[in-house]
Amino acid sequence: MHKTLVLPFGDEAIAKAARLIAAGQPVAIATETVYGLAVDATNAAAVARVYAAKARPDFNPLIVHVSDMAAAERIGVFDDQARRLALSHWPGPLTLVVPRRTDSGIASLVTAGLGSVALRVPAHRAIRALLSIAGVPLAAPSANASGRLSPTSAAHVMLTLDGRIPFVIDDGHCSLGLESTVLAATGAGLRLLRPGVLMIEGADAVTNGKVEAPGQLCSHYAPCKPMRLTADTPRPGEYLIGFGAVRGDVSLSATGDLAEAASRLFDCLHLADASGATTIAVATLPTDGIGRALNDRLRRAAA
Ligand code: TXA
Ligand code: MG
Repeated sequence: MHKTLVLPFGDEAIAKAARLIAAGQPVAIATETVYGLAVDATNAAAVARVYAAKARPDFNPLIVHVSDMAAAERIGVFDDQARRLALSHWPGPLTLVVPRRTDSGIASLVTAGLGSVALRVPAHRAIRALLSIAGVPLAAPSANASGRLSPTSAAHVMLTLDGRIPFVIDDGHCSLGLESTVLAATGAGLRLLRPGVLMIEGADAVTNGKVEAPGQLCSHYAPCKPMRLTADTPRPGEYLIGFGAVRGDVSLSATGDLAEAASRLFDCLHLADASGATTIAVATLPTDGIGRALNDRLRRAAA
């Protein structure tokens, strides 16, 4: 539990928010679209706290917010079309999904292990001030508990996150109030993944809203090896990913902390894949709280 503090936008609030971001804590803050729950996108444990605070039932990838195009190009790869769109609509309510640079520094939990990354340069003064003072890219989903309405005021944020986050920066009502338009520019043509206030011509019709997983199975969140779940003792030739009392070759969390397990899941799967073992075994994980998301992800990976 946190005692959630709400302060109006200003130098004092931004300085306090930057200290919390540096300490790996999430901060709710106004953007022009909806209030976001911002966290250091390079810190996996911090990102796991966002999923936990929202009780988000699955690891949908998050949007990474940056100050400008130069910062965006340090994280994603822009072709001519993507760069043109960015230059004409940023800062603003456009999110571009582009291939992720291997040296992006972004925690793999942010992109749910995908080879792509969603990037946005916001226009609103509050999140821009925080980006500038914090000096790190900020992953920020909408600042509401999973399944609830998106927040367009600090009071909305408090409705579902009071006591679950340390701090909210109140900067009045969001001018747009609808999440950004999400466009994928990861291959030939543009695809509209989420419609928004900003309409872009030439983007293919809306898909079913599901996350695109380019090249799926092998190179992305599903490992290339067969997987065995609820495996608490290793068999010969297996690489065991442990949890709690089950030690394993590597552990999601030796202390049985589900937030830590979430922050380490994709890293552990990568290690298992790179090992000499022929099969990956994963210890039984609790199904409550963020454990539900972990089990969901593991089932998909094992499918
Ligand atoms: O307006 C907004 O975009 C707000 C404010 C806070 O900036 N943020 C927001 O974030 O709505 P979030 O995390 O709730 O929305 C992320 C959307 C989801 O639809 C997700 O599936 C998609 O972006 N997305 C993120 N990364 C993706 C990726 N690598 N590939 C495909 N879709 C992605
Ligand atoms: Mg949302």
